Amino acid sequence: MAHDFSASRWMFLLMRKKTLPARAVQKLMRSAKSVIQNAHAPYSNFRVGAAILLANGKVFSGCNVENASYGMTNCAERTAIFSAVAQMGPKIEIRAVAVANAQGAPCAPCGACRQVIYEFGPDATIYFQSATGPKQAHSTELLPGGFRLQ
Ligand code: THU
Repeated sequence: MAHDFSASRWMFLLMRKKTLPARAVQKLMRSAKSVIQNAHAPYSNFRVGAAILLANGKVFSGCNVENASYGMTNCAERTAIFSAVAQMGPKIEIRAVAVANAQGAPCAPCGACRQVIYEFGPDATIYFQSATGPKQAHSTELLPGGFRLQ
């Protein structure tokens, strides 16, 4: 018998697969918040913490590191990802990313970070504060048509 999955049934299955249990999201968010205090943000005074959950269960965190030459600033998300690569090597698979800031202000990952998240987490879920409250989005929702060298 042919399977008759409607589009909405498929969407449900996909979303269920990519939504972490609430406790895991809370834990990841706590990791993100725990490193906000380490941010080097004397220029913007906007302190950010991020945490990533890898497919192997490991969590890495990072904060934003600004520079007097503003363009050299590294966002919290990229700090977390680069730390993971430094510790684990390049074969990491990001399952989820959580982003937090000291003010609880809306803070979606910037364009550069979206491309870096996509590199290691093309199927990741990103949790952050939006203008309308906490939000979760898939990597490809944040970055449609992300760049890949093949
Ligand atoms: N920032 C992050 O670290 N992550 C984000 O998702 C948004 C922006 C940092 C970069 C800069 O140090 C400061 O926030 C203000 O843009």
